[in-house]
Amino acid sequence: MKITICIGSSCHLKGSRQVVEKLQELIAQHDLQEKVELSGTFCMENCQKGVCAMLDGRVFSLTPEQTELFFKEEILPKA
Ligand code: FES
Repeated sequence: MKITICIGSSCHLKGSRQVVEKLQELIAQHDLQEKVELSGTFCMENCQKGVCAMLDGRVFSLTPEQTELFFKEEILPKA
């Protein structure tokens, strides 16, 4: 599966870097590097909902604090 995190300036200010780092950490912990592809994109034109993340065509709104829950609910069961 493919997860895309917005690294545009508004999302960056809301912590997209921490979101990406947290996801990288969780992916490594669960040994999912082969299954989960993490990438970044520029502004997804949804700045007020940042940090924007796209997973299989669905858009999520994350904060660094919510990232672990997002991973557990949306990624882990489907990986
Ligand atoms: S900067 Fe992320 S949606 Fe605009």
